[in-house]
Amino acid sequence: MSGHADAQPMKARKSGPLKGVAEVPGDKSISHRSLIFGAMAVGETRISGLLEGQDVLDTAKAMRAFGATVTRHGEGVWTVNGVGVGGFQEPADVIDCGNSGTGVRLIMGTMATTPITATFTGDASLRKRPMGRVTDPLALFGTQAYGRKGGRLPMTVVGAANPVPVRYALPVASAQVKSAVLLAGLNAPGETVVIEREPTRDHSERMLLGFGAKLTVEKTGEGHVITLTGQPELRPQTVAVPRDPSSAAFPTCAALIVEGSDILVPGVSQNLTRNGLYLTLVEMGADIEFQNPREEGGEPVADLRVRFSGNMKGIEVPPERAPSMIDEYPILSVVAAFAHGRTVMRGVKELRVKESDRIDAMARGLEACGVKIEEDEDTLIVHGLGPGGVPGGATAKTHIDHRIAMSFLVLGLAAKAEVAVDDGSPIQTSFPVFEGLMHRLGADIRRG
Ligand code: S3P
Repeated sequence: MSGHADAQPMKARKSGPLKGVAEVPGDKSISHRSLIFGAMAVGETRISGLLEGQDVLDTAKAMRAFGATVTRHGEGVWTVNGVGVGGFQEPADVIDCGNSGTGVRLIMGTMATTPITATFTGDASLRKRPMGRVTDPLALFGTQAYGRKGGRLPMTVVGAANPVPVRYALPVASAQVKSAVLLAGLNAPGETVVIEREPTRDHSERMLLGFGAKLTVEKTGEGHVITLTGQPELRPQTVAVPRDPSSAAFPTCAALIVEGSDILVPGVSQNLTRNGLYLTLVEMGADIEFQNPREEGGEPVADLRVRFSGNMKGIEVPPERAPSMIDEYPILSVVAAFAHGRTVMRGVKELRVKESDRIDAMARGLEACGVKIEEDEDTLIVHGLGPGGVPGGATAKTHIDHRIAMSFLVLGLAAKAEVAVDDGSPIQTSFPVFEGLMHRLGADIRRG
């Protein structure tokens, strides 16, 4: 069962060497934030390289519903005419964030300290995900939220009329929660403080500074203490969205496991809060050269030359690295299946509340493909079978999760027998050009 009506079955077959250049689209996290911060600035924000995946398109639509003027001018080229901090109008209808946890959580934060009411919903995957992690800290500002049992969508959020600033220590390592609190803090008077024990992706902090907010980050014994001064006037920006390292992970990992491959993946972020997968792959013995390091769109990037790596070894991934590679465990577990020995991924229970329960989805699919795994609530262990050793010959269930779909299609490129996924349609949420890009490299991926 795919879980929705327009399921698109797909399959992947053992492929010849992958060759060529894999230019992946814009970063999903930065794309959402460009639209949201642009909507809170006064004047016109210009964006290039915006990811035109469904998640981001849903956020664009939501920003229009809250009163911003959002216009597409050409591929990835957009403008946002913002309404200013505290200037959101009450939407006339329900806000549907589709599949996107980032979209809904950041937007809830953004409207939480303006005296308007909005009702949020999403697809069957998003309606299962916990929103309490965001509405709990928002309640400290004076925001009220009424959702289904377990803090699930649909949910109505009533913005605080007289918000107070908040000091909040994150109980989970989550950039979405951190960002929601900071966005709410924008329209509260005084200083809002967020403390994170483990650093998570820092795009909100970097971009808020760029848009002219007063924000400091102090490293203390407690962790990162982020202090934001409320009620600034945000200045519109010109944002060049860099490529998405989480999307780059799929062609990169495909090249590592498909014999004879040699590809170039340009402009991959080396931001320390995003590059955990790449450190891990190198430790496993992956042949990746980091060429031409430079800065693009305010992020440190490099071009990756990636070659087939027949001698990768399983490792213990340091649990403290999890936040910097949280979206990459599914594809890492595919690489691990083609490595020698065990790859141990601990401290990964957050994977259970992503677009799907990713520990379960990967474990069941890998087992069906003949790979031995071990799991508990917070751990996934993959017993590698070495290059060419994975039987395949199964259909993986994707549970409306783009990264599960792409991971099993990549696995199929190097498995002995064809691998199918029951539904590849969620790939549109984050990587709409995945199929074409992989074909051009020489991957045998088909629909049906
Ligand atoms: C994101 C944060 C992460 C990540 C998601 C994007 C963001 O989620 O998994 O894909 O843009 O802030 P969590 O905050 O739930 O870890």
